[in-house]
Amino acid sequence: MTSVISEVRSLSVMTNLWILVLGLAVVEASRDQKQRELRIVPVTEPHVLSEGPHWDRATQVLYFVDITSQKIMRLNPRTSEVTEAYIKNGPVGVFVPVAGRNNTFWAGSGTDLVEVQWNPKYNDPNPRIRVLSRIDKDRNFTRFNDGKVDPAGRFWAGSLGSKGNQALDNLGSLYRFSPNGTPTRIISPVSISNGLCWSHDNSTFYYIDSPTLQVVAYNYNVSTGNISNKRVVFTLKKIHKDEVPDGMTIDAQGHLWVAIHSGGRVIQVDPKTGKEIRAVKLPVMAVTSVAFGGPNLDVLYVTSGREGLSRRQLRRQPLAGSVFAVHGLGTTGAPMLNVKI
Ligand SMILES: *[C@@H]1O[C@H](CO)[C@@H](O)[C@H](O)[C@H]1NC(C)=O
Ligand SMILES: *[C@@H]1O[C@H](CO)[C@@H](O)[C@H](O)[C@H]1NC(C)=O
Ligand SMILES: *[C@@H]1O[C@H](CO)[C@@H](O)[C@H](O)[C@H]1NC(C)=O
Ligand SMILES: *[C@@H]1O[C@H](CO)[C@@H](O)[C@H](O)[C@H]1NC(C)=O
Ligand SMILES: *[C@@H]1O[C@H](CO)[C@@H](O)[C@H](O)[C@H]1NC(C)=O
Repeated sequence: MTSVISEVRSLSVMTNLWILVLGLAVVEASRDQKQRELRIVPVTEPHVLSEGPHWDRATQVLYFVDITSQKIMRLNPRTSEVTEAYIKNGPVGVFVPVAGRNNTFWAGSGTDLVEVQWNPKYNDPNPRIRVLSRIDKDRNFTRFNDGKVDPAGRFWAGSLGSKGNQALDNLGSLYRFSPNGTPTRIISPVSISNGLCWSHDNSTFYYIDSPTLQVVAYNYNVSTGNISNKRVVFTLKKIHKDEVPDGMTIDAQGHLWVAIHSGGRVIQVDPKTGKEIRAVKLPVMAVTSVAFGGPNLDVLYVTSGREGLSRRQLRRQPLAGSVFAVHGLGTTGAPMLNVKI
């Protein structure tokens, strides 16, 4: 008798388990369905550390950098052609076109802000470079990292501290640059300056210092370029041990898209609620930054890295370091601006 009861009981437990398993399978299937509508394609060869994607609306090309290889690069998505120029000053954290000029760019290389003359139709191992200014004159072991142009055309970029492969905390800063390239220190200290973007109404500046795991917001005064009233709008709940928020952009609805470095994904975040809305998995772990591009600004370009991966990890992620195009997200971005000088 007892054995029958226990058998029945265990049967019902089994049934419940099966319902649970089936339920999970359905959830998984619908998630798969959603992912299936997405098309994620590598659009470049793997680079050491691709970063800083910038869609140039006028010429319909994607600019990005390979930080470690000290290269500025251009992808023409119509021909799939990638061209590059070498910047001798140091690792290139960021580069953007200058508005209203052909073949003129600003780049943050080492601790130099440089103006580069480059015809991006061709590879150039030695483009003309003019140093405009130097950041972090009072620090050692820092270099330029991510940067972007604000709604008024001002260039912003930050720095990080590192010695060899080791990150050094609290040596970096975020700078705003005048049209002649003079830096003003805006936030300091930071550890790994990343992920900057502005709300469409110009009222808010969003920023990431990666090791804090936070996206923070400031009130933004577009006429002065001043920021005030810092608050936390999102905190990453880690899935993988080493993951941190990295580069960031904003979509037409004002949601933030954040690259999760060492997390193999990009997440969409609502800064009003602090909630993650969506996660998009990539076939690589070191996801570094994001930018909307394409004729309709509906393609999310995602950069990634392969630096520091073991041979075993590289076998599992042969595409690490590539730039990816994510199609089918059902959202669009805002045009990115070039620096006004
Ligand atoms: C930039 O190049 C385009 C196409 O060659 C040309 O029409 C335009 O006048 C150039 N602009 C400047 C500022 O040189
Ligand atoms: C940077 O290094 C130089 C040379 O070693 C040293 O003289 C200087 O004091 C250092 N500066 C800082 C801010 O640590
Ligand atoms: C944001 O600021 C820029 C530069 O001042 C201006 O051109 C643009 O119209 C502003 N946008 C809004 C929504 O106020
Ligand atoms: C921006 O700063 C200027 C100068 O301090 C001030 O007059 C203006 O009211 C500020 N605008 C906003 C939106 O805070
Ligand atoms: C705001 O910006 C103006 C102009 O850039 C500057 O003179 C002023 O000191 C700034 N105010 C603050 C509080 O940073």
